[in-house]
Amino acid sequence: MKSIFYNIKSLVGILDRNKEKLAGSEMAKLESIENAWLVVNNQKIESFGSMDTLDLDTITTYELQIDADGKILMPAYNDSHTHLVYAASRESEFVDRIKGIPYEEIARKGGGILNSAKKLQLTSEQELYETAFYRLEQVRSQGTTNIEIKSGYGLTTEAELKMLRVIRKLKETSSLTIKANFLAAHAYPIEYKQNHQAYINLIINEMLPRVADEGLADYIDAFCEDGFFNADETSEILEAGAKYGLKPKIHANQLHYSGGIQVGVKYNAVSVDHLECVGEEEITCLLNSNTIGTLLPSAAFFINLPYQPARKMIDAGLAIALASDYNPGTSPSGNMSFVCSLACTQLKMTPEEAINACTINGAYAMELQNETGSITAGKYADLILTKKIPSLAYIPYAFTENCIDQVFVKGH
Ligand code: NIG
Ligand code: FE
Repeated sequence: MKSIFYNIKSLVGILDRNKEKLAGSEMAKLESIENAWLVVNNQKIESFGSMDTLDLDTITTYELQIDADGKILMPAYNDSHTHLVYAASRESEFVDRIKGIPYEEIARKGGGILNSAKKLQLTSEQELYETAFYRLEQVRSQGTTNIEIKSGYGLTTEAELKMLRVIRKLKETSSLTIKANFLAAHAYPIEYKQNHQAYINLIINEMLPRVADEGLADYIDAFCEDGFFNADETSEILEAGAKYGLKPKIHANQLHYSGGIQVGVKYNAVSVDHLECVGEEEITCLLNSNTIGTLLPSAAFFINLPYQPARKMIDAGLAIALASDYNPGTSPSGNMSFVCSLACTQLKMTPEEAINACTINGAYAMELQNETGSITAGKYADLILTKKIPSLAYIPYAFTENCIDQVFVKGH
């Protein structure tokens, strides 16, 4: 099918084909054409330009003609870090935190991840699939067309496999492009509290071979954090994953300087995520790597952590991605426009930096940068058409207002 968008107020996010991610001062640039047209052919962006280069008589020859008068057309969001397969919400812990009990204490008492795991173990694959599918539809309407989803609320072999099979079914049935991340190393189940090595052995010797055998994961993850998996334990797991060709995308430095960034880089992680705790050493380590730092400001917002030092990282020349962390404990929302708002108001990123971090750099954080994430001929037409809004900066500015009119996944 051939479609044309015309009278586009601003076509935003134009990028060279060979540019895989944007780093440092490049992140502030968002190339655009005012008063533009764009043609989609067979799921992909074919061509685009300024309205004065379009022969208006040709418009009616397209199967789908979209008059985008007053609207902005931009790349859709790439949400590279979520946990959106889960059995139940956790608003009672939210209330506990309001009353002053910290996240880590709730977790120590069997709440948090262990609470989610207990419920997920009792929930059928079909029910998990249906609720996750609903969440996927919701985030798509909010502008996300490519997404990563983790396991990690199973914590037994059967329940981890169940989660990953749910993700596989989502891949088969959803229009979104999905990457699966194996996160059995999310927390130690109660019965392994005194014997961490036994749980690590279970992951390495029992879970991993089955996950690999069924081809259920694209990546491997670990929650590298004090009280969860320390740097050595994380190393052991990432090394085992590498034997099955699983690249890491890991949780690092959310609550403490855990050494997670260094471990991730050592094992050639695609991304290290969270990064509330980042100093000079961590920045230098990332600068000398291909690993992208992914910031999750809505998790910091929701559990009241200090925000990630985005300014320091970008000013040092780093590329950063933004993601939602959509999960029932620390970020019960997958709304990437809101993530952009937080990036601007709390992380002091400019709207251009925030949009680049959610689009091309988010694609890089899922190794999709050659297929999507920018307005580039030959890439998939994963696009957001906004409502009639005054400017791009209006999206993060008008937080909670839905600025999105239509979302196109591969041109549809
Ligand atoms: O990314 N930090 C670790 N894991 C999740 C949240 C886990 C939970 O509380 O359910 C996160 O924030
Ligand atoms: Fe997470």
